[in-house]
Amino acid sequence: MTPILEIQNLSKHFGGVKAINDFSLSVEPHQIYGLIGPNGAGKTTIFNTITGIYKPTAGSIKFEDKEISNKMPFQIAQSGIGRTFQNIRLFTNLSVIENVYIASQGMAKYNLFEAVTRMGNFGKAEKELTERAYNLLELLNLADIAKKQAGSLPYAHQRRLEIARSLALNPRLILLDEPAAGTNPDESMELVDFIREIHEKFNLTILMIEHHMDVVMNLCHYITVLNFGQVICHGTPDEVQKTPCVIEAYLGKED
Ligand SMILES: Nc1ncnc2c1ncn2[C@@H]1O[C@H](COP(=O)(O)OP(=O)(O)OP(=O)(O)O)[C@@H](O)[C@H]1O
Ligand SMILES: [Mg+2]
Repeated sequence: MTPILEIQNLSKHFGGVKAINDFSLSVEPHQIYGLIGPNGAGKTTIFNTITGIYKPTAGSIKFEDKEISNKMPFQIAQSGIGRTFQNIRLFTNLSVIENVYIASQGMAKYNLFEAVTRMGNFGKAEKELTERAYNLLELLNLADIAKKQAGSLPYAHQRRLEIARSLALNPRLILLDEPAAGTNPDESMELVDFIREIHEKFNLTILMIEHHMDVVMNLCHYITVLNFGQVICHGTPDEVQKTPCVIEAYLGKED
């Protein structure tokens, strides 16, 4: 099967810091793939490079067989890759529905003139986008909080809303950066169900970074362990748990 995402020999250096160094990874369609490793291992840098925020120092990133490492972030988002951020990035003063609406703007079929004058296609497009946003919230069982101010939501709901926003442009692949960060054990298990549900409902491939091992081991079909910008091991959750590499990565090697 052709991988949906194929990263080959990727490096990203910041001056003398080798944040990513000769990193390769291949994600199959419909997989839930985990990327784990200690703080500073380079996980978020990989997401930022996939989504075009950083240009790679070297290497290739292919999405559905097309090179994307030379593309701009908005082009990558529109080509079918959604993402969430490690630090929640919501418009806290706006409502839940407005947050999703803004994230769907890339779908809008009107030009700047029509937007400024609110003429032509603008009204129709605005109505369509609002409907889409409501439909998405309904599919995610978030419709009953559509009018709530995003900043007033409990933290776990804000994390869900971040995921809802990442789905606004109908992606086929989503990158989740620590979706369970800051959640308690009950909330993180609810999040596992939520991610499993959207994975099926939206026929998604998911690449996720996560420190909560219960979430990773429950959800992921395959895992890569990263340390100092390099792969130190990979395998199924069972395989990874049986090797000492995770413990070594997090706690250091015993002499
Ligand atoms: N824009 C940048 N400029 C300079 N150094 C950076 C930049 N972004 C990341 N780094 C460095 O790259 C390394 C990897 O950082 P990164 O944020 O990717 O780690 P991470 O695995 O996501 O860690 P965490 O689990 O704490 O989120 C760190 O040493 C970090 O300081
Ligand atoms: Mg990070």
